[in-house]
Amino acid sequence: MGMLFSVLYSIHSAARNVTCSKVHELESFQNASIFENYLNEIIRTSARNVQQRPFTTSRGKEDMELQFGQFWKDAVNDLKSTDVILEPGAGDFQLALGFQSPQSPQYIGISFELIRRTPEDVTEMAKRNPQQEFIVGHFFEKIPKKRLLSRGPIKLIVDFFGVLSYTARPSQVLRKYLEILDDSGYIMIQGPLLSYQGKDGLVEILKRTEGIEFIVSPSDSLINTSPNIFIRKNGRPLRVPRVKILDVDQGIPPQRKIEILNSFI
Ligand SMILES: C[S@@+](CC[C@H](N)C(=O)[O-])C[C@H]1O[C@@H](n2cnc3c(N)ncnc32)[C@H](O)[C@@H]1O
Repeated sequence: MGMLFSVLYSIHSAARNVTCSKVHELESFQNASIFENYLNEIIRTSARNVQQRPFTTSRGKEDMELQFGQFWKDAVNDLKSTDVILEPGAGDFQLALGFQSPQSPQYIGISFELIRRTPEDVTEMAKRNPQQEFIVGHFFEKIPKKRLLSRGPIKLIVDFFGVLSYTARPSQVLRKYLEILDDSGYIMIQGPLLSYQGKDGLVEILKRTEGIEFIVSPSDSLINTSPNIFIRKNGRPLRVPRVKILDVDQGIPPQRKIEILNSFI
């Protein structure tokens, strides 16, 4: 995997002749052949790794830094205390612990089910940290957008083996992410590439989604099993392809087999 990224990064750097040290210096490569190569490599790598389904509910800020690398650090450094980080599929809200200083951005975590913490622990955390909100026992798909936007603009959506890894409605979830994301915000995704079987998976959905662009950024270090995906909106109208779920297993996360349809939401 490290090798794969070294290769991708060398191609990328050679092509761009830039050092990707700052988020705003990164450029997107939608439709570029280098980007096609990158995505094809992601699909191949994910196919090799489908047997690995790492499950935990306690990834914190350090794990995000390790996995998402400099891109994460720069994006987080740019956040003001009025900006919002949204974590859909937040497990036991470990990430929230890394954002509890007075200067920290707002944080909204959504977890259908807690494993290690109790609802009382979470109520206590929220009392101590008014800039944080923990939504437990609700499906992200059902939470009104108005509630998610109530704290300010959502500048960063982090889906780390989160809702996209589990949902039976990936198109609807992706569309909702994009609708609530601020125009200058980012979505960082890790994990769900592993939870599709067959030729159509999340990458195919993303490739056919209109109104977004991908940011190719090498991971500084890979602690996980699948490449990162960073996306942002490009200002054009949003269109996400509909998918039909053909099959889903009982794994954690579940393996889904989907067919991408020719219509959009
Ligand atoms: C594997 S855990 C990952 C937790 C965290 N992101 C981490 O890396 O430690 C998946 C989390 O997603 C939640 N989840 C899955 N599907 C969801 C949905 N549709 N709506 C809300 N939460 C969901 C589960 O309850 C669980 O908290």
